[in-house]
Amino acid sequence: MRSTPRSGAARSRLRRGLAAVAVAALGSTMAVVTATSAQAAVTCDVTYTTNDWTTSPGQGGFTANLTVRNTGDALSSWNLGFTFPNSAQRVSQGWSANWTQSGSNVTASSMPWNGSVPTGATLSLGFNGTWSGSNPKPTSFTVNGVTCGGVTPSPSPSPSPSPSPSPSPSPSPSPSPSPSPSPSPSPSPSPSPSPSPSPSPTPSPGPRVDNPYAGADGYVNPDWSASAASEPGGSAVANTSTAIWLDRIAAITSGSAGNNSKGLRDHLDLAVAQDAANGSTPVTIQVVIYNLPNRDCSALASNGELKVAQNGLNRYKTEYIDPIASIMSDSKYRNLRIVAIVEIDSLPNLVTNLNLAACQEAKNSGAYEQGVAYALGKLYAIPNVYNYVDAGHHGWLGWDSNFGPSAQLFGTTAALATGGKATVHGFITNTANYSALVEPHFSVSGSVNGQLIRSSRWVDWNFYIDELSFAQAFRQRLIQEGFSSSIGMLIDTSRNGWGGSARPSGPSTSTDLNTFVNNSKVDRRVHAGNWCNQSGAGLGERPRANPATGIDAYVWVKPPGESDGSSTAIDNNEGKGFDRMCDPTYGGNDRNGNNPTGALANAPLSGHWFSAQFRQLLANAYPPIS
Ligand code: BGC
Repeated sequence: MRSTPRSGAARSRLRRGLAAVAVAALGSTMAVVTATSAQAAVTCDVTYTTNDWTTSPGQGGFTANLTVRNTGDALSSWNLGFTFPNSAQRVSQGWSANWTQSGSNVTASSMPWNGSVPTGATLSLGFNGTWSGSNPKPTSFTVNGVTCGGVTPSPSPSPSPSPSPSPSPSPSPSPSPSPSPSPSPSPSPSPSPSPSPSPSPTPSPGPRVDNPYAGADGYVNPDWSASAASEPGGSAVANTSTAIWLDRIAAITSGSAGNNSKGLRDHLDLAVAQDAANGSTPVTIQVVIYNLPNRDCSALASNGELKVAQNGLNRYKTEYIDPIASIMSDSKYRNLRIVAIVEIDSLPNLVTNLNLAACQEAKNSGAYEQGVAYALGKLYAIPNVYNYVDAGHHGWLGWDSNFGPSAQLFGTTAALATGGKATVHGFITNTANYSALVEPHFSVSGSVNGQLIRSSRWVDWNFYIDELSFAQAFRQRLIQEGFSSSIGMLIDTSRNGWGGSARPSGPSTSTDLNTFVNNSKVDRRVHAGNWCNQSGAGLGERPRANPATGIDAYVWVKPPGESDGSSTAIDNNEGKGFDRMCDPTYGGNDRNGNNPTGALANAPLSGHWFSAQFRQLLANAYPPIS
């Protein structure tokens, strides 16, 4: 794939590994409390479900998931309160709120990123806790001091006195309806006879959790994991969650580029097994939707099988998106959180690269916009799928000429989807790219010897110098464009670590602007438009949820060690072209300021295992591998 800078003048834990939890989920119980406060602006519904287990006779642990629906006026911050009926119930660790407990009284207050709750919106939060004696559910909840109402007693199965046999991927015959605590009330039948609100038998989109990464384990792809583990030292990261790339129609059934043999169902089945084996923690699996007609229209290394001129849009819908949606909507996958990463490097090409024929055709035919809108609508209809749309990176969209117009194009495209802009749960930046997460040694607003940092050759008048600041700002811009204020960003940190001996440890002392910037920046690329198998790069931040305001997670979408493109032409039947940006001897094009490519030599086709690259990424990891 390619991350293409702007054209024109100035120029572009989730290592949620599988924490084995030595307990088995024995029951999932649910209580629903609905109430209104007559005169207050705050009204709310709270659903409280637990998964309980026994660690020794008479005591154990549990995971509680709460869904709070704001049926009153919009809130800008919130405090949820409840009282445990039993004095031996304790919160041990919670998510999506600041959790405190005093005696039996528990308070969860909003985080900076989820304080704002529009009317009708739903919040999801939860905690792990311990109990002794029994684990009854709280009987009433308050939001900002206003009681959400009376109790809906729901007979909770008393915790089993003995540990259950090892977790099985299929729902246990116990009172639990689901093998794991669902991230959100699933449309499947409720375990408890809770009178309201009863899940509708017709699946409707959502409710989804606010952040599908929070409190979840990430699916570990065994194929990638085995490749990583086969490299010296690779086992240190082999248990990291990476995305599944559906990079052609055949990948739905038989695996993507390289030697992987697993199709989408295989991965989802394995994810269900990982979910069953990891106790009560939900599993998030990331699937890249990447097969638009005229794919990667401004580059060659990841061109695909479908062409606009050969009925590509229709084939995209019927032979690619429809089968994917049909598999994902299988009820056996209902408890997974499926993150769909939607079409890398597509829409921004319609903003910045219309001088290229393949991009023009994608624009004029409407194929990219209609294809993305179709994918969004189809996938959003599946209640446990979360759409994150690819939003380029700072070195592409950071200039004003690209920033606003791209946000607008995302808005008009999502508006075409069945379900509109609500189909978008968030956006992802830096997918398969190398932009540093944070440049710690200089600021975009700084100057050197009276000259603006922005005027340096490296920054080139960009308004952003790193990915975190770009992603946070772009999120705000997207909200202005009409996307929900609850959208979250993902940043692909798989290969933007830039550690190792070449990493500057502090700002340069040079008074020459370009020398200062070049010697201070941790991103060691020659040009921010370089994108193929970058020499000197390292693994970046390990995947984790809620790392910064507005950011749902750092993720590894590009599986480290998989090539960006071949460094010489290689015949293939994958539709892949040869892009000289992957050739270390090439002097570049206008999209990288005619600079050397910085690409590693001897690279295989995009998506294929590139051992030397993986070893380099491991050696230059930042943060370093401990
Ligand atoms: C390639 C895909 C591959 C993906 C992940 C892309 O650049 O075009 O074939 O699956 O990278 O490695």
